[in-house]
Amino acid sequence: MCGIVGYIGEQQVTNVLLNGLQKLEYRGYDSAGIALQTNKGVQVFKEKGRIADLTKVVDQDSPATTGIGHTRWATHGVPDRKNSHPHQSQSGRFTLVHNGVIENYLQLQRDYLQDVEMKSDTDTEVIVQLIEQLSLEEASTEVTFRKALTLVHGSYAIAMLDERDPNTLYVAKNRSPLLVGIGSDCRVVASDAMAMLQVTDQFIELHDEEIVLLKKNSLEICTLDGERIERAPYTAELDQSDLEKGTYPHYMLKEMDEQPTVIRKIIDAYSNENGELTIDPQILQAFRAADRLYIIAAGTSYHAGLIGKQYFEKLAGIPVEVHISSEFGYNMPLLSEKPLFLFITQSGETADSRQVLVKVKALGYPTITLTNVQGSTLSRESDHTLLLYADPEIAVASTKAYVAQVAVLAISAYACGQSSLDLKKELSIAANSIQTLLDSKEEMKKIVEETLTATHNAFFIGRNLDFYVSLEGALKLKEISYIQAEGFAGGELKHGTIALIEEGTPVFALATQSEVSPNIRGNVKEVTARGANASILSMEGLEEEGDRFVLPCVHEILTPLVSVIPLQLISYYAALQRGCDVDKPRNLAKSVTVE
Ligand code: M6R
Repeated sequence: MCGIVGYIGEQQVTNVLLNGLQKLEYRGYDSAGIALQTNKGVQVFKEKGRIADLTKVVDQDSPATTGIGHTRWATHGVPDRKNSHPHQSQSGRFTLVHNGVIENYLQLQRDYLQDVEMKSDTDTEVIVQLIEQLSLEEASTEVTFRKALTLVHGSYAIAMLDERDPNTLYVAKNRSPLLVGIGSDCRVVASDAMAMLQVTDQFIELHDEEIVLLKKNSLEICTLDGERIERAPYTAELDQSDLEKGTYPHYMLKEMDEQPTVIRKIIDAYSNENGELTIDPQILQAFRAADRLYIIAAGTSYHAGLIGKQYFEKLAGIPVEVHISSEFGYNMPLLSEKPLFLFITQSGETADSRQVLVKVKALGYPTITLTNVQGSTLSRESDHTLLLYADPEIAVASTKAYVAQVAVLAISAYACGQSSLDLKKELSIAANSIQTLLDSKEEMKKIVEETLTATHNAFFIGRNLDFYVSLEGALKLKEISYIQAEGFAGGELKHGTIALIEEGTPVFALATQSEVSPNIRGNVKEVTARGANASILSMEGLEEEGDRFVLPCVHEILTPLVSVIPLQLISYYAALQRGCDVDKPRNLAKSVTVE
């Protein structure tokens, strides 16, 4: 979703901004732009499409050493040049980039901007025009900036240039991710530390309703009331090479291939000095003190949460509810006496999940975030963090983060209970099985050719844990190949959806759960009798003649780690076959930072 970069310092800024924006591309965007503070005023360059398109129109030789940049994921107004950022005030004095959603922009327009001709359809332009109107009555830009932000309701991460004050870069944050950084000869701002690792690894987190005044050699953080705040920087422990895709054609393929390594890293990270799997004692204590666990998540993370529910109930005896974060905020169930909230979020920035975190914290409930990004908003704002150790996931389609989530949930539940399971051994076996499956890519390509070449829809069915993996398989296929896909509990098809089965409709059935394997095979017979092109993916020990693919055997509770792999690969090859942009599917963003 939208990304911001900004730099004030000694280096020529154009390439710093373009490189930074490239690092934010993975978040998803549909237009991009930069603004350069030059001695002839602020110059703006913007373009619909990719950073590569922007690069063609910018002034590469500009001597400017201060500037801001933006990648836009359209919310208000279509993705075109006019609506892309940066936006400028009527006179051109102020230039601003913004992430988030301004809820009262129409009202602000009515109350303050009746005489201003708007140049775009965005909520963002209202902020910059409002700042200019307020500046007509107030000499200090800092005071004007703060005043404007007290009038604005909604989420924002903002970087702004004032043509009359070329030595300051103005920054503000509320409910949208933003960091400031300290380089040896510069100060920077970015939505994500990765974007500015090129100049520094020293960052300072910002809290909601804070503004920052960045100068070449200093920065000042303050509240909207003007109260100054001191906060120490931290070192972002990221490795630039984690962000490169090397010889891989797509990040998604690279990230799928990393999955065995991720499981092994997790085993290491969660082993104590005696080599036993465990989690931080304080987190263990929080789980044990709860009478009910509420898992809150979205998308793929929600699917991992459904599996986590089984783990916590079966291995730890803790009752669990799993909720979609965007629904939970206004549809909160009656809570138990001692609830514990577990947020599952790869990015740690998902606005839907964060709004729940804010609400339950205000109610005084304990919170844990399971995330891949230490220092992300949800990680910082929760009482505790469980890390995924999956290294940056760049492809929009989540793959390695999902297996990492399932593995860490298994370890956490295991640590809370007293299971006789040798989880460490079983996770190592699962890592090896994932490797075997990743080595079967040719087979997956063949399955795609046989089933998905000329289809407009597909179904994934399973029972028990296989049902949850079916949901994930369907999500993966639709998000990157745009084939309409649905995941179903095998028994539920006949209650309506079987009406959609026609001659040749692809149905993928998972059969890894011994107790329900005969039942899912029965469901396959039902759809085959109605013309479906069904493929059974079973597990060694449960296989039968005619199964399309047999997965290497793993412990039954860990099957979601391996049964998802063929489904990821099938989605990948289906997307390739259709010529889709695998890593950056249309309309999607990696970090979904608006509610
Ligand atoms: O960063 P999060 O895990 O909170 O993101 C939640 C979803 O947006 C995410 O899992 C999404 O569904 C993936 N792109 C699916 O591959």
